[in-house]
Amino acid sequence: MPTIEFTRRATAAALALAADRLRGRMRPFVVNHLVTVRCNLHCPFCYVSGPEQVEFNRIHQPRRAEMNTAEMVAFYRQLVAEKFHMAIVLGGEPLLRGDLGEMLRVLQGRLFVTVFTNGWLLEDRLELVAPATSVFVSLDAPDAEHDRLRAMPGSFDRALKGLEAMRRRLPEIRPAINMTVTRENVGRVKEMLAFARSLRVPVAFQPPTFDGQFAVEGRPNEESAQTAAAREPLAEAFRAIREAADHGDDVIGSRAFFSHVVDDRASYPCHYPELVLGPVFPNGEVIGCTHQRPIGDVRETPLKELLASTPFRDNAAAGPGCARGCRDWGIHDLSAVYARRFHLGDARRYYRAFVG
Ligand SMILES: C[S@@+](CC[C@H](N)C(=O)[O-])C[C@H]1O[C@@H](n2cnc3c(N)ncnc32)[C@H](O)[C@@H]1O
Ligand code: SF4
Repeated sequence: MPTIEFTRRATAAALALAADRLRGRMRPFVVNHLVTVRCNLHCPFCYVSGPEQVEFNRIHQPRRAEMNTAEMVAFYRQLVAEKFHMAIVLGGEPLLRGDLGEMLRVLQGRLFVTVFTNGWLLEDRLELVAPATSVFVSLDAPDAEHDRLRAMPGSFDRALKGLEAMRRRLPEIRPAINMTVTRENVGRVKEMLAFARSLRVPVAFQPPTFDGQFAVEGRPNEESAQTAAAREPLAEAFRAIREAADHGDDVIGSRAFFSHVVDDRASYPCHYPELVLGPVFPNGEVIGCTHQRPIGDVRETPLKELLASTPFRDNAAAGPGCARGCRDWGIHDLSAVYARRFHLGDARRYYRAFVG
C-alpha cells in the first residue's frame, strides 16, 4: 500500500501537471538518463549496449567520459531545482555504477524515480536502488529461455531472485517486469501475462525500436533490427495484451498504445521531446530524438539555460510532426495523456503499477 506521503506527492504532481496542461504551459518534467552504457550483458536486440554497439560506445561513450559522482549529483540537484517530477534511470546496466545510490538519494522524496535493470546484480546490490520509487526488471520469457534471448546463462534465475529479494527487503519499492517482445519470444506473451499474474507484479511489453529514442546518428542498428517480430504475430500478441488489460490484468500501457501496435500505425503526434529531457547520455550529452543529434550537454550548460535553448525548443517543436512513431509505451503514453487519448482504465492501471 502506498504511504499517505507518497499518495500526496503523486496527487500533487498530477494536479500541477493538469494545471500546466490547462494553461497550455507544458514543460519538461521527466528526465530519461542513461547513467552508463556499460553492460554486463549484450542482448542482441539492444540499441544501447548490444553486441554491435560495443565498438560505437568505446569510441563515442568511453568509460572515462562518464560523468563522475559529483557531476551526477550536481545534475540531479538541478532537476530538483527545476521541479522535475520523474526520473527514468537506465543504461547500459545502471547497477554497474556503485555510486547509483548516492546519486538517487538526491532525488529521493522529490522526484519519482524508476530504475530499469537486467537484474543480474540486483540481489547483491539492492542498496543501490533503495532510493527508487519503482524498479523494472527485464524478463523476456517466463523461464530459462530468457537466458538464450539475453545470451547469458543464469540470467533468468538471477533476475527473478533479484526481484524477489527486492520485494522482501525493500517492500516500499514498486516492482515491475518489462518484456522486450522480439521475433524470438513474441509467441510467449500470453505465458508472460500468466507469469506476471502469478507473481502479482505489473508487466509492460515493449517491441524493440531501433530508430527511435536512444538512436544517435551513426549508431549501428542493422543486427538489432533483425530481431523485430513480424507484423502479424506482433499484432496477435498485442491483441492478447489489450484483452488482458481489459480484463483487469496489471498490464502497464494505455489501450491506445496496444492498438497502435495491433494496427501497425506508423506514427502519432509525439510530445516526448517537449515533456522529457533526454536521452541524457553518460557523458552529459543530450540527444534530440527527432533528428538524433546532440542538442546540449548537462555538464557544460546549466539546466535552466539548456531547457530554454533554441536546439532544445526546436527539437520539442518537431515532436508532433515526427514520423519515427517510437513504439515505446512510455513515450506513446505521455503523448496520449497530453492529447487526451488516455482513459480512466489506463490511468487506473498506471496508478496500480506506480502508486499502489
Ligand atoms: C536499454 S535497457 C537498460 C536497463 C537494463 N540493462 C535492462 O536490461 O533492463 C532498458 C529496457 O530497454 C529494453 N530494450 C533493449 N533494447 C531495446 C530496443 N531495441 N527497443 C526497446 N527496448 C529495448 C531492455 O530489454 C530493457 O527492458
Ligand atoms: S542488459 Fe539491458 S542494457 Fe544490457 S545489453 Fe541487455 S537490454 Fe541492453
